[in-house]
Amino acid sequence: MGRRRPSDAELHERRRDKIRKCWRVGMLAVLFALLGFLFMCLFELYYGHTGGSPYAHLRGSCDHVAPISPVEFEERQTNLSKLLVDFKAAAYIAEPGINMQYFTDIQWSQSERPFLLVIQAKKDQTDTVLTKTTIVVPAFEASRARQKLLPGTSYAIKTWQEGASAYKVVREVIETPWAGTDPNDEEEEGDDEILHKKPKKETESIFIDTDMRQFVAAGLADALGNSARKVEIANHNIGLLRMQKSAHEIEILRCVSETTVNVIRAVKDQIHVGARESEVQAMMTQAFKESGLSYEAGGSLVLFGKDAALPHGKGNDTKLEKGMMVLIDTGARLHGYLSDITRTFWVRRGHSKEMNEELDKVWETVKKAQIAALEAIKPGAACNSIDKAAREVISEQGYGARFTHRLGHGLGMEGHEEPYLNSGNTDTALKPGMVFTNEPGIYVEGSYGIRLEDVVLVTETGYEILSGNLATSPTEP
Ligand SMILES: *[C@@H]1O[C@H](CO)[C@@H](O)[C@H](O)[C@H]1NC(C)=O
Ligand SMILES: *[C@@H]1O[C@H](CO)[C@@H](O)[C@H](O)[C@H]1NC(C)=O
Repeated sequence: MGRRRPSDAELHERRRDKIRKCWRVGMLAVLFALLGFLFMCLFELYYGHTGGSPYAHLRGSCDHVAPISPVEFEERQTNLSKLLVDFKAAAYIAEPGINMQYFTDIQWSQSERPFLLVIQAKKDQTDTVLTKTTIVVPAFEASRARQKLLPGTSYAIKTWQEGASAYKVVREVIETPWAGTDPNDEEEEGDDEILHKKPKKETESIFIDTDMRQFVAAGLADALGNSARKVEIANHNIGLLRMQKSAHEIEILRCVSETTVNVIRAVKDQIHVGARESEVQAMMTQAFKESGLSYEAGGSLVLFGKDAALPHGKGNDTKLEKGMMVLIDTGARLHGYLSDITRTFWVRRGHSKEMNEELDKVWETVKKAQIAALEAIKPGAACNSIDKAAREVISEQGYGARFTHRLGHGLGMEGHEEPYLNSGNTDTALKPGMVFTNEPGIYVEGSYGIRLEDVVLVTETGYEILSGNLATSPTEP
């Protein structure tokens, strides 16, 4: 009543208004959705990829590398047996330790109770080398020892009772005729052609491991030694088995070394002036954790400025200042194999132009020494000649007295192992498969220390740097 009915034109106008409003709201919603999507994409790209961590790119670095297989352990024993036959040794005996682990993968703690690996070797009538592996264990530990055997292995387990002699059990093992690798064969009697094993005219050797403790070696010599048999320390060639790495060991060492260099490079990008040595230690722990390698927290040398002048210094939790170089010496483990890498670099040069130039020159000298050593590496070269090649470069620049340690050491299941690259090691010639560190350094107490360390493999024709690329410059380690 009294209300005017809207005209058709007005109704039409209102409807168009509504449609326009709807359209605007709709467009706005679409715009927000698009923006949200774009933001999510960017977030995902940045954080989804990095996981918020500067070390995320290190994740899974060595996931593709398998541990040493049971077949390879068997091959190691076969290689050992061939040498034993060559040297007319009837057996090799080792205590728990790195060599037992190398041949059998068995890890066992040494104690006053002998626990012994006995590997016997001989040729059968067709000149095939046979191997028999026995573990001599305290009787009450037999089951625990059996659990340590790799799947598929058929080692004989021989026990000794508390109060009896482990060494006499070893003698029984050595004196029991045997036919082949199957421990069940040993009970068979009668087939004289195969089992025939009268003491030979020649004196037979029993090789004991170089790391064997004195009281165990003496016990074995007492029980086993006689006019026809001599107990002696395994010769250098046995040590060469572990020194010359297999293709698979090299693959492991390559990955653990390369990843360690990448860890240092990633940590370098996070270090700023004012950071403390302990903070950089924590970064190393975090980076290694993300890389997936086994690393003992705090297991690096992180040394700033003059703290680095002691090659194995502990540091002083020094705060990084401009003009101090950073030295990081570190290593981690993959499938039982170690890396060992050192980088020294600038985060920020100092105010003294002279000092900056001095440190740059020293850095370049160390790098040149490292390259000179590399160029000297080839099969047949003596270990001391590699040390000499590096030392000459450093001496020429007048820092001879400042290069206070050997050039390097072998690397594998142990952090320091043979071969050692020092001026006195004239006896060891390089052989393909040897892996060692190349780590010249120059140290001035109270001022600075600069060292560069990479891991090198001897190849058939020369060398390969297992740790990838050498440091490029004092700012690009
Ligand atoms: C066994 O010896 C051969 C020949 O020297 C070598 O190529 C191979 O890598 C050795 N095997 C292992 C598992 O070390
Ligand atoms: C270690 O650091 C402390 C405090 O920063 C300092 O007083 C001390 O002299 C330093 N020690 C060495 C050996 O540099």
